[in-house]
Amino acid sequence: MKFFVDTADIAEIKALAATGLLDGVTTNPSLIAKSGRRILEVIKEICAVVPGPVSAEVAATEYDQIMREADVLRRIAGNVAVKVPLTPDGLRACRTLSGQGTMVNVTLCFSAAQALLAAKAGATFISPFVGRLDDIGQDGMLLIADIVQIYRNYPVLKTEVLVASVRHPIHVIEAAKLGAHVATLPPAVLRSLYNHPLTDKGLATFLADWAKTGQQIVETGST
Ligand code: E4P
Repeated sequence: MKFFVDTADIAEIKALAATGLLDGVTTNPSLIAKSGRRILEVIKEICAVVPGPVSAEVAATEYDQIMREADVLRRIAGNVAVKVPLTPDGLRACRTLSGQGTMVNVTLCFSAAQALLAAKAGATFISPFVGRLDDIGQDGMLLIADIVQIYRNYPVLKTEVLVASVRHPIHVIEAAKLGAHVATLPPAVLRSLYNHPLTDKGLATFLADWAKTGQQIVETGST
């Protein structure tokens, strides 16, 4: 499973990229607003740090204007994935852009029917929002299961399922068990994947026992 980080905070992205575990980045208008920066400048910086797909979202809703904005965004770098909303105009733009070889992330997906349309429109990624479905009392992970199953039934569909609106590690594990291709995680959720109290406890015991031996693996002054 690929891990993307869902943020426009360049310091966070740099720190997570250094782990070697980051495969891409997603942003949206709310995350750009939170960064307080200009979209073109921040996307350019992110693309220079992360070689994988970097999603940059259009703000237009009408086809011609979506295409104009997409053209600006995809010129920033070769790894920009243009993010378009799951609307008739967004999917029309998706079809045009993917036909031109541009990666497209179709966002705001809340049903399997929408995901099927996006795949037929040639989306590189479909972004179902699991957390926002859970928030309204629906089962977000059921949507992931449905989409993965539908896409598997039609190998001609090459769209990757990008699990979005992830709130906690269980979302990640459940999505991985279902075979989703990608999860985009807020930085805190990505970092929380490392954690287990028994790891901390075990490490403390090992270090205490090691200290009692008085040994050093690298002798002081040997380098
Ligand atoms: C995905 O691309 C979206 O940016 C994101 O996952 C939305 O998450 P939220 O529901 O936490 O805002």
